[in-house]
Amino acid sequence: MTSRSKRLSILGAIVALALGGSTAACIAADVTPADLVDALNGVFGKHAGDRAAHTKGVCLTGNFTPSADAPKLSKAPHFAKPVPIIARFSLGGGNPSAPDNAQDNVRGLAVKFDLGSGASTDIVTISAPMFFVKTPELFVEFLKTVATGDQEKIKAFFGAHPESTLQNAWLTSHPVPASYAGVGYWGVHAFTFTNAAGEAQVVKYKLIPEAGDLGLTPDEAKAKGPDFYAGELKDRLAKGPVAFDLMAILGQKGDPTNDPTQRWSDEDNRPKVPLGKISIEAIAPDATCNAFSFLPGNVVDGIAGPTDDPVFAARSPAYAVSLIRRLQTAK
Ligand code: HEM
Repeated sequence: MTSRSKRLSILGAIVALALGGSTAACIAADVTPADLVDALNGVFGKHAGDRAAHTKGVCLTGNFTPSADAPKLSKAPHFAKPVPIIARFSLGGGNPSAPDNAQDNVRGLAVKFDLGSGASTDIVTISAPMFFVKTPELFVEFLKTVATGDQEKIKAFFGAHPESTLQNAWLTSHPVPASYAGVGYWGVHAFTFTNAAGEAQVVKYKLIPEAGDLGLTPDEAKAKGPDFYAGELKDRLAKGPVAFDLMAILGQKGDPTNDPTQRWSDEDNRPKVPLGKISIEAIAPDATCNAFSFLPGNVVDGIAGPTDDPVFAARSPAYAVSLIRRLQTAK
């Protein structure tokens, strides 16, 4: 089997995972997964072999060690014993040369927990507590508006959809992270955990950096230039692992689960339960992360995605389309 056909042979399983069984099938959307990827390509261009979004990034390996409290919330297997992980830091958007020193862009952290025997579960997070659109239709509408380059139309979009200004306002009120390892990441969507006793708890993920929040002043960010994260990470990992505490922000009765542009009331001060430590130990070849997608819908018994969040439902099928296209065009 050639390496290309080997890559393509894993697609069946991934597409089945992205399209079937999950909540994705339950929420009708007026846009297809291909429309979502096309809309990204419309703004950022098509780049052979690359992701349609979060194109620039660094692939990593490490491990996850669960806390003693994690199994009390969820019976998921990685909350019962330490497991290896593959992870990837990235910059938002589909520009392979996206500047590391931009303030108005999210950083991404995706983690695949290796559950053994070929099984895995993923979390896919960004460095902001909210997403910028509340439906896949608005994702396409927004990107098509941006693609026109018409500032008046873009302004009109934000006027009609004020919730879409929240992420940018949040990012521009926080400094440019000095390191992928020095910023918090959020899962944004609401997941339902179920423990061995059958008790359910709604949670949102937050990843807290062990290094603390490391921000740059505008002058420092300018001086760093557009390409410093990979080198900074290499130097940092030479001194030891990069760690994050994976936390569950606890939901309360009546918290909305259907709109990733909205935070829960007083979310920052909610009780949080530590789920364990993500320890990133080494940089891995890009090929390791490029062979698959980190799928938000790749959950496991004990964790369920939101059934009423149309953005969550749209994501994994769109990631599968991006994966198929980048494997087909891989250099
Ligand atoms: C309708 C909404 C969304 C669409 C259409 C979308 C689309 C995509 C696509 C096509 C990819 C590339 C997948 C691949 O080739 O493997 C991607 C990657 C990514 N997305 Fe999204 N996304 C959406 C929402 C979100 C949200 C809400 C988050 C975070 C909470 C997020 C975080 C990420 C991250 C971190 C990656 C990079 C994963 C990696 O390193 O491989 N996305 N997205």
